[in-house]
Amino acid sequence: MAPIVAVTRPTLPGTGLERLGQFAEVRRWPRDETPTPDQLRDLLTGADALLCQNSDHVDAAVLEAGERLRVLALPSAGYDGTDVATAQSRGIIVTNTPGVLHETTADLAFALILMARRRLLTAADSLRTGGWTKSRLDAYLGLDVTGASLGLIGYGEIGQAVARRAIGFGMTVQHTLSRKPDDALSRAVSLDKLLSTSDVISLHIPLTEQTRHLIGAAELASMKPTATLVNTARGGVLDESALLTALRADRLHSVGLDVFDREPRNGVGDPLLEHERVVALPHIGSATEATRARMIDLAVDNIIAVLNDKPPLTPIP
Ligand code: DGY
Repeated sequence: MAPIVAVTRPTLPGTGLERLGQFAEVRRWPRDETPTPDQLRDLLTGADALLCQNSDHVDAAVLEAGERLRVLALPSAGYDGTDVATAQSRGIIVTNTPGVLHETTADLAFALILMARRRLLTAADSLRTGGWTKSRLDAYLGLDVTGASLGLIGYGEIGQAVARRAIGFGMTVQHTLSRKPDDALSRAVSLDKLLSTSDVISLHIPLTEQTRHLIGAAELASMKPTATLVNTARGGVLDESALLTALRADRLHSVGLDVFDREPRNGVGDPLLEHERVVALPHIGSATEATRARMIDLAVDNIIAVLNDKPPLTPIP
């Protein structure tokens, strides 16, 4: 009998699901909205594998329905929304997708650095709404990216990929909260030093109990008033209300956000997302056709490996 693989979305990018269909019975969640915990439990019942998103929040109560479950495959680098410890204690292998999305996510982090620091959204909006009526040398002024100092909080695959881009822009790079020592791209420094000396600060650490609200009022206060802060990691790493307070007090030049405390989120009327110095995107760090297809492919490869009694390619330790 073919194994059953539960999938929490009706469609996914690329051709991974078709490949899975040649090997297993694919039980897709048929609707376009995220399944509720009860719906997830129903979907999981009798399934041998689960392909779900980190944002589906598979917790202990959901996992109870997965009596046959052998592998839970997340097509993401992050797994903060999934109860990995409980899954592993039930003998379920949990996998993620490192190694396939860091360049694309670094591209987006760099795009946010440029957009926020050069105030590109404000300038583009002005043009679209008829605001470009005079040629003035003192209009639409931003701050330089070339030659600025970049501080990377977290220096894993994505942080290092951002550092490679920064070198091309003549930036000096430093990193913190990583076991990685100095290398050819970046110097390891303390968090305090990084916060107080960087022109651009970019977050690349996972969300854990230790990193929740790592950047709060005190950390924001120690940044340069001309600093740009970019978050493509997880919303929970940053205290959003402290950030709004700092912006309102002009204690920060600009902010680029791709991730939020609550997702998905409606930006209309949201004082942080609508703030003039904030560029906010709907969590699209890895959202290119090729990268999303690679993420699904790797998740599918992990499922096929485990269900064939082979070691998974990218297990979460
Ligand atoms: C990740 O890989 O964790 C991303 O946030 C998903 O796009």
